[in-house]
Amino acid sequence: MTAELIDGKAFALDLRGRIATLAADFTARSGRKAGLAVVLVGADAASQVYVRSKGKATVEAGMASFEHRLPADASETELLDLVRALNHDPLVDGILVQLPLPGHLDEQTVIATISPDKDVDGFHVTNAGRLAVGQPGFVPCTPLGCLMLLKNRLGSLSGLDAVVIGRSNIVGKPMAQLLLAESCTVTIAHSRTRNLADVVRRADIVVAAVGRPEMVKGDWIKPGATVIDVGINRVDGAEPGKTRLVGDVDFAGACDVAGAITPVPGGVGPMTIAVLLRNALVAAFRNAGLELAEGAI
Ligand code: GUN
Repeated sequence: MTAELIDGKAFALDLRGRIATLAADFTARSGRKAGLAVVLVGADAASQVYVRSKGKATVEAGMASFEHRLPADASETELLDLVRALNHDPLVDGILVQLPLPGHLDEQTVIATISPDKDVDGFHVTNAGRLAVGQPGFVPCTPLGCLMLLKNRLGSLSGLDAVVIGRSNIVGKPMAQLLLAESCTVTIAHSRTRNLADVVRRADIVVAAVGRPEMVKGDWIKPGATVIDVGINRVDGAEPGKTRLVGDVDFAGACDVAGAITPVPGGVGPMTIAVLLRNALVAAFRNAGLELAEGAI
């Protein structure tokens, strides 16, 4: 079997188009643009690239982007004061503080200071709790993007066996909650799981989010299963000095067995920013007290 490729890049592009249409609708109805504030502390190279592309995508969607940069040695008070000011700013619908933060800043304290109704990352415990009990809130962007790809491919997920490999607060745990809410039978596997290959072999849906290059082997996959690879790992390339990106799944091996699989790059990656824009727009509609049709995005 040769697995079908799940084109996250194309799906994300389409989603961003729909968001732009709804963002224009928001502007027409509210008299202002939906606003997303991104805070970057320090000058981490990868974070700078992410923040720049988030800002660009926000503007392309017809939303307002507010970028705030603080020096690497900014105090916790300085950062918390900025977050509180953004909480109170009526032009800011969503707030994202780019992680990781420099070591002297406590990420949990910062996340706890963001208003849950502007927490477009879905990292605040209030939003984690809302997801756990099935109340409307914000869901972390990467797992929500994975769920969109799965539903687009499979339709109803009800009754399917799903294995999530990885138990992070950002991906693994919310992914498991989302799949449970879709009535999957969910297993969360992690570094201490025994007989991981056998656990994965039961799954109709595999979501790999462990951050270990090509750890999930092709012969672990149930024939016909749908594989979502969240991993983005940089490894040595074929030529000296060159690197390449690989996922957490042995892509070539899995392609022979799976029914469908996300490539790396071009699978889950592009979905994260698209869902961030989606969350920011949903925040804008909610904060402005405007109706957004159920399932519109
Ligand atoms: N750093 C890498 N990915 C993310 C993300 O999705 N949100 C935040 N806040 N920081 C990140």
